[in-house]
Amino acid sequence: LLQLTLAIIKPDAVAHPLILEALHDKILENNFIIVRSKELIWRKQDSERFYAEHAGRFFYQRLIEYMSSGPMQAYILARENAVSQWRELMGPTKVFRARYMSPNTLRALYGLTDTRNTTHGSDSDESARREISFFFPEFSVKEWMEQC
Ligand code: CMP
Repeated sequence: LLQLTLAIIKPDAVAHPLILEALHDKILENNFIIVRSKELIWRKQDSERFYAEHAGRFFYQRLIEYMSSGPMQAYILARENAVSQWRELMGPTKVFRARYMSPNTLRALYGLTDTRNTTHGSDSDESARREISFFFPEFSVKEWMEQC
C-alpha cells in the first residue's frame, strides 16, 4: 500500500547543483516515486505559516530567515511507509547527531548545521496531508489514492 509524504530540499542544498543532484538520486535509489515536484521561493510569511508550531523556540527566527533565503524544491513522494522511510533516510534533525549515529543519512552527508539541515519531511500521515495541501493546493490526496 502506497503512502504519500511531503519532502523539501531546503535552500542550502538547492543552491549547490551537485548536492541537489545527489539528493535527487537518493530519492530515486530509495524507491520513492516522485508524484509532484516544484521549485519555489517562500516569502517570510510562508515560512512563518509553515513553521508556526515552532514560534518562540530559540531557533525560530533563524529558521524563518533561512527558509525564505532562496529557492527550495518541494516534492510529493510515494512509497510504502513513505513518511517513516523518508524520515529514516533524512536522519536526525541535528547534524552532529546524524553524523555520529547514522552516517549514511542525508543530513549526515549534506547537512551544514541544525538549521541548515538539507531536507524536511512530514512527521505523520496527518501532517503529510496538511503539508501536501500547503505546497500543492490543487492536488487531491483522496483522488490520487483512489487511482492507485
Ligand atoms: P525540520 O524537520 O524542517 O523542522 C523544524 C526545523 O527547525 C528543523 O528541520 C531545522 O531546520 C530547524 N532547527 C534548527 N535548530 C533546531 C533544533 N535545535 N531542534 C529542532 N529543529 C531545529
